[in-house]
Amino acid sequence: MTAPTEEVPVPASVERLAAGGRVTPVWVNERGGVTFRVDDCDNDGDDDGARYVKWNPASTGLSLAGEAVRLRWAARWTPVPRVLDHRRDDDGAELLVTAALDGLSAVDPRWLREPATAARSLGEGLRALHDALPVAGCPFDWGIDERLTHLDPEADTDVRAALADRPDVDHLVVCHADACAPNTLLDADGRWTAHVDLGRLGVADPWADLAVCAMSTGWNYGPGYEHLVYEGYGVEPDAARIAYYQLLWDNT
Ligand SMILES: Nc1ncnc2c1ncn2[C@@H]1O[C@H](COP(=O)(O)OP(=O)(O)OP(=O)(O)O)[C@@H](O)[C@H]1O
Ligand SMILES: [Mg+2]
Repeated sequence: MTAPTEEVPVPASVERLAAGGRVTPVWVNERGGVTFRVDDCDNDGDDDGARYVKWNPASTGLSLAGEAVRLRWAARWTPVPRVLDHRRDDDGAELLVTAALDGLSAVDPRWLREPATAARSLGEGLRALHDALPVAGCPFDWGIDERLTHLDPEADTDVRAALADRPDVDHLVVCHADACAPNTLLDADGRWTAHVDLGRLGVADPWADLAVCAMSTGWNYGPGYEHLVYEGYGVEPDAARIAYYQLLWDNT
């Protein structure tokens, strides 16, 4: 999960979709999926606006269908990418095309230089997302039972025992479910503008998101920024729930 460091080949299906527009790889994920930005899509003189294309090769065994459904659902209440197209190509790869949102990812070099501002905004953005999305009527689940069905088969006995010792649910919200720093966009002043990457969005304890959001500041900014996520969110850290949900994240 990083900005591409080497040249990334552009799949034929993405070239076709760009129809002569400029294609820039912006993100390569752990599973071999690539996100491209496409500008001036068809050169016909109309301004189609910039788009992002998530390209997911068949080899990942995962689908972007669930993400398309969740984006369409969440867009009614909070800023997320607007789905323009979702299709499977001849070679089995999937393409999810969304309209470009303004803002830079919170791990853009701009924000790596100013991590305190970004970390607080991650917390503020997460709080706004949780406040905006309605639990009642949300058709998606990201609760512990559902997540434990994806438990790493190599998880050892101690981990299994710790994960069996579940904290009570503090309360329920609709969680982002991949609340890592790269999935929040920030404006030029560092305020959050939107969330992306909602493929697992679902109802859960807010600590499931908070724990991961805070942990991701360690991966992206280094130590010393986690408390700013909690401050931005407006909550006192809950050590037991944070530990549980970080362990769950690491093992599912
Ligand atoms: N519609 C959009 N507008 C602006 N930026 C976008 C949009 N869609 C994706 N991006 C950018 O592309 C990056 C990759 O997208 P996304 O996080 O959905 O891909 P991913 O491969 O699922 O990520 P991960 O590695 O976290 O699994 C985002 O972090 C964001 O910076
Ligand atoms: Mg992402």
